[in-house]
Amino acid sequence: MLKGKTIVLGVTGGIACYKAAALCSKLAQAGADVRVIMTVSATKFVAPLTFQTLSRHDVAIDTFDEKDASVVQHIDLADSADLVVIAPATANIIAKMAHGIGDDMLSTTLLATEAPILVAPAMNVHMYAHPAVTDNMRILRERGVSFIEPGEGQLACGYVGKGRLAEPEEIMTAITKMLNPSTPLAGKKVMVTAGGTMERIDPVRYITNDSSGKMGYAIAEAAKRMGARVTLVTGKASIDVPPGVEVVRVESTLDMMDAVMARFEHTDVVIKAAAVADYRPAHRSDTKIKKKGETMTLELVKNPDIAETLGERKTNQFIVSFAAETNNAEEYALDKLKRKKSDMLVLNDVTMPGAGFGTDTNIVKIFDRSGMIASLPQMSKREVAERLLALVAERLGGRGGSDA
Ligand code: PMT
Repeated sequence: MLKGKTIVLGVTGGIACYKAAALCSKLAQAGADVRVIMTVSATKFVAPLTFQTLSRHDVAIDTFDEKDASVVQHIDLADSADLVVIAPATANIIAKMAHGIGDDMLSTTLLATEAPILVAPAMNVHMYAHPAVTDNMRILRERGVSFIEPGEGQLACGYVGKGRLAEPEEIMTAITKMLNPSTPLAGKKVMVTAGGTMERIDPVRYITNDSSGKMGYAIAEAAKRMGARVTLVTGKASIDVPPGVEVVRVESTLDMMDAVMARFEHTDVVIKAAAVADYRPAHRSDTKIKKKGETMTLELVKNPDIAETLGERKTNQFIVSFAAETNNAEEYALDKLKRKKSDMLVLNDVTMPGAGFGTDTNIVKIFDRSGMIASLPQMSKREVAERLLALVAERLGGRGGSDA
């Protein structure tokens, strides 16, 4: 499964180092080229010779011990990796990664690599629950680092609880999944709306909302990773467009409506994460409106509801709407699901810290016509996107796609 793949295995100082030797052996048996980096603390637990013998390569420990003059070793290791795995990962390496510290071979390699990173923490139960550690893990998750949860049980320090390094078999499964990503949306055309629409009042003023585009862009990126052909119809947003995605930029709700409707017939899945203005100014002034009296009244007219129109016109398309609510969240969400004839609806209660507008994380409940099908705790928008799309892919099942 791992033939042709280079895996940099970072081993940091904890009693679970002995399990890293088993992992190294399994990786080599699966055909991977394994390059081991040990911290000095790790060498106190297991001799580098163990990893050297299992991987058939020198073990890198000291940044300044440059054995091959033709390369800079930490850059060479960083560049050669298809995946970097840190097992066991101590609280110390997690903190260094979160704060960009590069003071040894492993931490400098981690700063230099562009490869995906999988971290398998192992530590005392109270250390694992310490706010500093959970905050650092949150920072890393938001940057796209993957984690494999430690197991619960008897710890070497005498405590019973969460902190045991995941078993090597479990880490192998996660590695194989990361290196052979499944593409359950291959052959499907997915259209995602994102960002906030803007309704012009005059050439210099407009009405909009707080959407940053992060949720919709994360969905577009995840759909692309899962094999779909993706079109992102985006209003105002403050982030970079994911690579490999077709982008259609729009300003107002009417523009978004036109862009979505023009592509709807040839789309398999529509995900409406955009925050769409329900009303627009009745008149848009071509010149800057001048200050006059003490008050000013702005007349607004209703915009069309894009999701509702899609629900009425859909043939075979699968439609996912979002609901951003501040009160009576579930009641309003279920009403929207029915009224807009969506197949699925993602509810975010935007009053919750860590959820909704502008944040890197979200907290959502996902509904279909039968009721709630998932309740996701706070996690990165990237993870929410992946979990949502996995559910969509499950529902699409055997349906043929536009590209199929
Ligand atoms: O962009 P971020 O900063 O990451 O924030 C993410 C988010 C909070 C914007 C996102 O998670 C979200 O909830 N998007 C939907 C926001 C919204 O407009 O919700 P709503 O409850 O007003 O609308 C319900 C659904 O109908 C939405 O899918 C919306 O796109 C759609 N709609 C609404 C009005 C309208 N005129 N046309 C529509 O299609």
